[in-house]
Amino acid sequence: MSTDTNADADDESTSKCGASSSSESNTESSSSKCGGSSSTDDSSSSKCGGSSSSSSSSSKCGASSSDDDSNEQEVGATVDDFDAEPGQLIAVGLGPGHPEGMTERAKDALLEAEHIVGYTTYIELIPDEITEQADDIYDTPMCGEVSRTEESIDRALAGNDVAIVGSGDPNVYALAGLALEILESKGATASMVDFEVVPGVPAAQSCAARLGAPLVNDTVSVSLSDHLVPMPEIESRLHSVASENFTITIYNPWSRKRRENFEKACEILLTHREPDTPVGIVHGAGREDEQVMITELGELEDLGESEIIDMTTTIVVGTEDTYVWDDRMVTPRGYETKYDY
Ligand SMILES: C[S@@+](CC[C@H](N)C(=O)[O-])C[C@H]1O[C@@H](n2cnc3c(N)ncnc32)[C@H](O)[C@@H]1O
Repeated sequence: MSTDTNADADDESTSKCGASSSSESNTESSSSKCGGSSSTDDSSSSKCGGSSSSSSSSSKCGASSSDDDSNEQEVGATVDDFDAEPGQLIAVGLGPGHPEGMTERAKDALLEAEHIVGYTTYIELIPDEITEQADDIYDTPMCGEVSRTEESIDRALAGNDVAIVGSGDPNVYALAGLALEILESKGATASMVDFEVVPGVPAAQSCAARLGAPLVNDTVSVSLSDHLVPMPEIESRLHSVASENFTITIYNPWSRKRRENFEKACEILLTHREPDTPVGIVHGAGREDEQVMITELGELEDLGESEIIDMTTTIVVGTEDTYVWDDRMVTPRGYETKYDY
């Protein structure tokens, strides 16, 4: 089973960050004409990096040279290092992972982009007819989300129209915010690169669709990744959310390094909800290895050791009103209190 198919903004603690294969595939898997150390070719139609100041940047057209350890990622070139008229920067959400799950707007945005930047697995989710028309694809393996985002910004500041892609939606535990933060730290502005977000279907919605109708009332998402948010803070948020009668979608539920986080989360949920509370588990929604299961909260912790729960899984914990009918999770919206049917 794949364990490395999600590496957006807060997913790095579970990854193989810093593994030697990262830097290898960083150059091997990238087809960038901008990024690699060998890329001095002027024949490329793409415009890379600052005017002549790549040495002042931690990136070669943005990307850090080899160190993909997320703690080591630093922003390099500033807006003053670029002479060109900036191009456009678009953060595009790919949806769950199959081409039919992409919006037309996302497809059009990618077709118009000169450069497409993203985590290798996400780039592979894009139909060939789209990637083939791009002047350049810059893909990196898991890790390096800061350097990858900076790469996309530097390419835009250097005059290219750039799309940075991620799974689901760019606003859900993803890179849209990071892009704006890095733009600001470079002394640039969002308007300068005509920054735009093209939404995609988030995992919670793709997964809910596979489970029935569990999200039709008030719902809150919690990520169990402690890469960017410390676990005590996550625990406190989970207590607060679980104490109210919200449906809870749990992102980043599991990894070998995050085993205790998952166990702790199950423990917290059980202090607020009955053990027979319906729980939906969807692994790889819209992907070849999709798996769907509806179980009860009391069974959840034991499933942490099974194949269905990993980094490509989203868990939906029902409210006290959620029930299972004909293999579907149903959270009443409240119509039954007002209407007879
Ligand atoms: C860093 S977050 C990115 C979320 C993404 N931006 C979105 O809108 O869905 C990665 C987490 O999203 C969830 N996820 C992403 N794709 C999924 C899929 N196809 N099926 C189930 N869960 C998925 C998993 O919980 C995974 O750990």
